[in-house]
Amino acid sequence: MSKADFDRLDHTNIVGFLQDIFERRGGEEYLGEPVTMAEHMLQGATIAEQNGQPEIIIVSALLHDIGHFTSEFGMFSMEDTEDRYHEDAGARVLQAFFPTLVTDCVRYHVAAKRYLCATRPSYYDRLSAASIHSLNLQGGPMNKDEILEFEKNPNLKEIIAVRFLDEAGKHPDMITPPFQHFAPMVQRIVDQHCKAS
Ligand SMILES: [Fe+2]
Repeated sequence: MSKADFDRLDHTNIVGFLQDIFERRGGEEYLGEPVTMAEHMLQGATIAEQNGQPEIIIVSALLHDIGHFTSEFGMFSMEDTEDRYHEDAGARVLQAFFPTLVTDCVRYHVAAKRYLCATRPSYYDRLSAASIHSLNLQGGPMNKDEILEFEKNPNLKEIIAVRFLDEAGKHPDMITPPFQHFAPMVQRIVDQHCKAS
């Protein structure tokens, strides 16, 4: 299935649709990083799996940058999903199929960088040059009020875990399994959510 009408997506075809995006568009450059978009997200998911993290974290890492491809979802246009808002766009396309924990990890992965830079000085050293550049465009480290507000999120721990995976997934030569390896766990998360809602 390619370039779908958002309305035609449901819990039976969303995982195939996401896989198709990885396969057709995943080779695109991740601006300023030595990995493609698919490699970046697959690396984060693979590291999470190797570290024994829960499936929901693995899946969140796998999908955290899907907002770069929201033009694939018929209801969105390129105009309203510029890259600098990819975190909101990604959360919006996932929210019909995934629990809030996943969409929060996606929606706040940029905010988490701003949070960590403000609260853990050593975190800044982990950032790639491209990530430091985008940090400045994204508002720089959080101020005190922003920190207090951000810490109210009940999913803070998971959001931060996914942010660390985001930073970790930038190896120029790491081998990962393909999307298909993760597809069954993505489907499990979707099925649990769609059954519950
Ligand atoms: Fe990322």
